Amino acid sequence: MKPSAAERIAELRRQIAYHNYRYYTLDDPEISDAEYDRLMEELRALEAEHPELASPESPTQRVGAPPSGKFAKVRHAVPMLSLDNAFTAEDVAAFVERIRRFLRLDGEQLVFTAEPKIDGLSLSLRYERGELVCGATRGDGTQGEDVTANVRTLKDIPQKLTAHDVPEICEVRGEVYMTKSAFLELNRQQAAAGRPLFANPRNSAAGSLRQLDPNVTASRPLGFFAYGWGEMSRMPARTQSGMLEWFRSCGFRTNPLIRVCRSLDEMLAYHREMELQRGTLDYDIDGVVYKVDRIDWQERLGFVSRNPRWAVAHKFPAQKATTVVRAIEIQVGRTGALTPVAKLEPVTVGGVVVSNATLHNEDYIRALDVRIGDTVEIQRAGDVIPQVLRVVLERRPADARPFEFPKTCPCPLKTPVVRDVTNTGEQGAVARCSGEFACPHQKVEHLRHFVSRHAFDIEGLGEERIALFFERGWVKEPADIFTLAERNREIRLEEQPGFGAQSVRKLFDAIEARRTISLERFLYALGVRHVGETTARALARGYGSWPALRDACLAIARGDAEARQEMDALDQVGETVINSLAAYFGEKHNRAIVQRLEEQVRILDAEKPRTDSAIAGKTVVFTGTLNRLTREEAKALAERYGARVSGSVSKKTDYVVAGADAGSKLRKATELGVRVISEDEFLAMLPSGAHAGGE
Ligand code: IVH
Repeated sequence: MKPSAAERIAELRRQIAYHNYRYYTLDDPEISDAEYDRLMEELRALEAEHPELASPESPTQRVGAPPSGKFAKVRHAVPMLSLDNAFTAEDVAAFVERIRRFLRLDGEQLVFTAEPKIDGLSLSLRYERGELVCGATRGDGTQGEDVTANVRTLKDIPQKLTAHDVPEICEVRGEVYMTKSAFLELNRQQAAAGRPLFANPRNSAAGSLRQLDPNVTASRPLGFFAYGWGEMSRMPARTQSGMLEWFRSCGFRTNPLIRVCRSLDEMLAYHREMELQRGTLDYDIDGVVYKVDRIDWQERLGFVSRNPRWAVAHKFPAQKATTVVRAIEIQVGRTGALTPVAKLEPVTVGGVVVSNATLHNEDYIRALDVRIGDTVEIQRAGDVIPQVLRVVLERRPADARPFEFPKTCPCPLKTPVVRDVTNTGEQGAVARCSGEFACPHQKVEHLRHFVSRHAFDIEGLGEERIALFFERGWVKEPADIFTLAERNREIRLEEQPGFGAQSVRKLFDAIEARRTISLERFLYALGVRHVGETTARALARGYGSWPALRDACLAIARGDAEARQEMDALDQVGETVINSLAAYFGEKHNRAIVQRLEEQVRILDAEKPRTDSAIAGKTVVFTGTLNRLTREEAKALAERYGARVSGSVSKKTDYVVAGADAGSKLRKATELGVRVISEDEFLAMLPSGAHAGGE
């Protein structure tokens, strides 16, 4: 059936918006300029023929996408408002009473849903005829940012609504969040790659969603709970709880702790229960939300300024405390980043004794004007890292002086501190010691990283022991670990406190066992800035062997353009990583350290992608829900057999593997004439036995 003019116009606008994004923002166009012009021409012609369908939002009315670094703005069809807060049981009682009065309810029962208030960021998802067409952040409530491409990578967000009675227009709203464990893991990786840390799970969720490259969002574990709606062409339920059930039937997740309450007592009991459970949940909540269950009543109650009268957020008491700053210490990380830490008079916050709090960086100290001797308010942000919120100025000692951020590294070398420069040439927030390998702080942090769990992972040689060995001068660089046993005649480790003959033997056995190491671990262990585990894996796969990878790095460091181009062609590897590798291998000192280490260990070749399958060298896109494989497995299998897995369909795509409920990617494949195959067909293309029930 031929699409109507309105449908074709909508489709063209979507396609053009997508190509604008690829071109302007990602700098990675999928189609030629001529093809782009053809789409634009067709749209212009159709809009001229149907002036009633013209729109100021149409790409014909705008010049390209917004400049890189910003997202397009989206006007919310229904504003995204915020909730009024209640702090005490009395506040909640007054809220219930106000509603009773407003609705003139006498004996009639007033039912509420009680929901955890997720500490993430709200998102509005617009579906037209069941297809996801737009994902937008809240922004100022009226206008948000268009994060559609990123939203499509979230596993909790269906591309297509599957329920049988999906309204034509349907805006689902809810909260995007990152689990606490994922947040800690992400920060560990950020630290390992020398990137700045996120302050709490909410910031990292926001930062992950607002990425210019959707592949980055896809690599971050974000969850989504649906709890509300915006524009709906028809309401599929009459109550809040009915809507939640309907969201579930459409493939969304709703929070499992949501409960229906029939009295004030039940509401307050729920609040107490959630406060107790808070610490055991893997995501942050900062209160509970009560909502009138009947939607017709919600509509009658309406809004007061920017808050609904039918809902309130009952907050948990803040996990804050005040204490005194005894000192401000500067810690030096592996990459030389200087992090100021407030040493505090110990104080209990939310049941945990806190004696350190991060001050993040020089700018943060200056903005708060934290001084030694100050009384400060601190908070356990996201239940994880204590932060200094503000200074209680009335209690500032008369002799407190502004804190002078050191100009030199706290190490004995006193190397000058330099501020990072960002990609746009501005001064970054991170101050770094310029001493590199000469700085003992960085040396010991490098060693700690070298033996850490995802690097060499030597049993019995944890981060504390390696620091001790460094302090004693027994291990000055990684290669020394492997000559410890030989040198033990002089060191006599077994005579040191905390060591015995047996534990020393065990330690040496563990070191021996690690003399053979995988290429990706070896590379990650070197601790080159920006080379985290994922990047190390990509490089290992791309080059196959250490000599090949090392020679490429050395060539790039010498300015070999061809070698650089070759590395740039690898997935997951970009300018930043390449520059960082070039800087590392350009340094004589680093080359010597690596060479001495090479003499001690045997680096295994990486598992080379195989070339004996029908998919070797092909570009594959997975879409929809697969039956026999998880997405991760499917991707890994494809890569193992030599395919390139991409997140979006283009003319260069060889196969689209479509599972159940495949949406826009399938449509695009059909449009472009890309071959679409089923999961079974995909498996059949691999050599026999490749997937024998979960290889
Ligand atoms: S309902 C009209 N329910 O809290 C506003 N909000 O200040 C309707 N939030 O921006 C919001 N969990 O980001 C609602 N179960 C929940 C929520 C929730 C978290 C956030 C949301 C909103 C803010 C309200």
